[in-house]
Amino acid sequence: MKNRKYYLNTIIIVIIILAIMFLGESYGIFLSPKTQNMETSEDEGMIVVGVSQLGYESVWRLANTKSVEDALSKENRFFTIINNARQNQENQIKDIRDFISQDVDYIVLAPVTEKGWDSVLREAKEAGIPVILMDREVEVQDSSLYATHIGSDMELEGARAGTWLEGELERRGYTEEDKVNIVILQGTPGSSAQIGRETGFYNIAAKNPNWTILEKADADFTTAKGKEEMARLLKRYEKIDVVFSENDDMTFGAIEAINEAERTVGANGDIIMISFDAGHEALVNVYNGNINVDVECNPLLGNLVAEVIKKMDAGQQVGKKYIIDEKVFTKENVEAYLSNREY
Ligand code: AHR
Repeated sequence: MKNRKYYLNTIIIVIIILAIMFLGESYGIFLSPKTQNMETSEDEGMIVVGVSQLGYESVWRLANTKSVEDALSKENRFFTIINNARQNQENQIKDIRDFISQDVDYIVLAPVTEKGWDSVLREAKEAGIPVILMDREVEVQDSSLYATHIGSDMELEGARAGTWLEGELERRGYTEEDKVNIVILQGTPGSSAQIGRETGFYNIAAKNPNWTILEKADADFTTAKGKEEMARLLKRYEKIDVVFSENDDMTFGAIEAINEAERTVGANGDIIMISFDAGHEALVNVYNGNINVDVECNPLLGNLVAEVIKKMDAGQQVGKKYIIDEKVFTKENVEAYLSNREY
């Protein structure tokens, strides 16, 4: 009798264990982190990519994120996890560590600033996960810590703005004796967009001793801060001839502040407006004469990122740097680009 009860209990326990194992498998409890992120078994064989996007501070950033989502899609054989770091490097470091623990195949990093990446990138390297830098760059002691960089030449963008300004002042009849007062609305300090654009511009400014940079104001690539800082600068300096605004979003805010201060800006105004990114709304402003020049920074990097990852996945060599083509827009050439601008 005791024996029968014992066998019955054993059978019940075995059934319970089997049921737990079956449910665990179905709900992914016993699966590896990478497999847990797969939605269905159809996802197997896909390339798993963790993307640490730095934020959503600008129109540019939204277009960049969309371009990555479109290119690293399921249809294109990617399983992509995109995390948004809200302009905070700590969040990005955490993202990378999470991706390492999930054992993703590749990490795409759009770094908020250049410095402070050595340790976490070494962790990724030691885990055997290649890191692709997108958009901005990093400053690390050992460049083998990342596989490649895909983005813009920010220094060239800044130089293009400076060269355009030289020409514009000449067209307006300025001579070397005429003082030119410039204010800079800076993007996130320490980001390669800020560093590169200013380096390129300063190199041209150095050849023009009549140019004075009155102040560099941090406006963090956002419209709200662009407006706030521009309003402050207008109160502080009586004569501002040029605004060098490091992205369109800050430019929109600055234009509002200039109008509210009853000053005029753009092609027919007394303040020259230089902007970067060249999104559709900004190009309309170039066309309408509110922005004098817009130096393009192309956010549509997704296809190139996908192409490079596919090559790496096929065991092919990839370059260390991919620089995307960019243009300079003024009233003279902008009309042709208005109708088919993708962002
Ligand atoms: O790194 C690219 C820059 O970042 C873009 O100019 C800006 O709009 C964005 O926030």
